[in-house]
Amino acid sequence: MQIVTRVREMQALAESLRTEGKRIGVVPTMGYLHAGHLSLIELARRHSDSVITTLFVNPAQFGPGEDLDRYPRDFPRDQDLATRAGTDILFSPQTTEMYPAGYATYVEVERVSSILEGKFRPTHFRGVATIVTKLLNLTKPHVAVFGQKDAQQAFLIRKLAADLNFNLEILVAPTVREEDGLALSSRNSYLSPQERSRASALYRSLKRAESLIAGGERSAAAVRAQTMDILSRAQPTQIDYVALVRPDSFTEVETLTPPSVLVALAVRFGSTRLIDNMIIPFPESR
Ligand code: PAJ
Repeated sequence: MQIVTRVREMQALAESLRTEGKRIGVVPTMGYLHAGHLSLIELARRHSDSVITTLFVNPAQFGPGEDLDRYPRDFPRDQDLATRAGTDILFSPQTTEMYPAGYATYVEVERVSSILEGKFRPTHFRGVATIVTKLLNLTKPHVAVFGQKDAQQAFLIRKLAADLNFNLEILVAPTVREEDGLALSSRNSYLSPQERSRASALYRSLKRAESLIAGGERSAAAVRAQTMDILSRAQPTQIDYVALVRPDSFTEVETLTPPSVLVALAVRFGSTRLIDNMIIPFPESR
């Protein structure tokens, strides 16, 4: 595996791969890799000749007071895991390489940036849209892979790519979970053992929503109330939101209609903020 830290070198390398006729797959990450990230790399591997994994903790997507400074990092381990999962090139630039002094350009995806996650993290998606645009321009991929774990992010990136005419295919890989259902996340490392065990409520609450819908419940308010109830019993510090949206538009629904609904939630345990979601198909659409 080759490690690249300079933007110029990355762009030149991507250009030469394209000239050789190679199909490039990219997997953007912020590192501290876990099995969720590795599943994305493996998916990219199956869809391309050259897999570029990017590793960059992007300051622009962290708000003031968020966890930028303590975001977990372990470069040697990431290097090893990324190689074994099938990465050919690891692009891991310094912050000054991506945002040199005087940097001034940001990408804004309207509406979806300001709902749900965007309400609680007002500058987050502007930072995500900006870095993803930059990474796509640097790695020139034919295919880019993201995780369903961050459903709103995946939706936003599809919108960004469509609106700005990026000529690439976007793949969204399913969420990889722990045995008790907790979605793998680099941020799970912040949880105390007690918080960790209570955090299984996120998945349980989504499973409750799923079984209610399978049983015929069509009121979003009713599903939301029961989902909140399961979450509350785990005594989180705060439930930021539980929302039911249409997966194809990210608009909130009151009455659930086929073919599917996406239940998205964000919960805090202490200072750790966890998000999760589930796309729930209707019984008649299965
Ligand atoms: P990060 O949180 O490191 O996640 C990188 C990619 O891995 C994202 O597409 C995310 O959805 C996916 N992912 C995370 N946990 C997952 C899980 N349990 N199962 C499957 N996929 C999972 O998301 C980001 O970084 C950043 O916002 C980024 C897109 C890199 C831009 O900075």
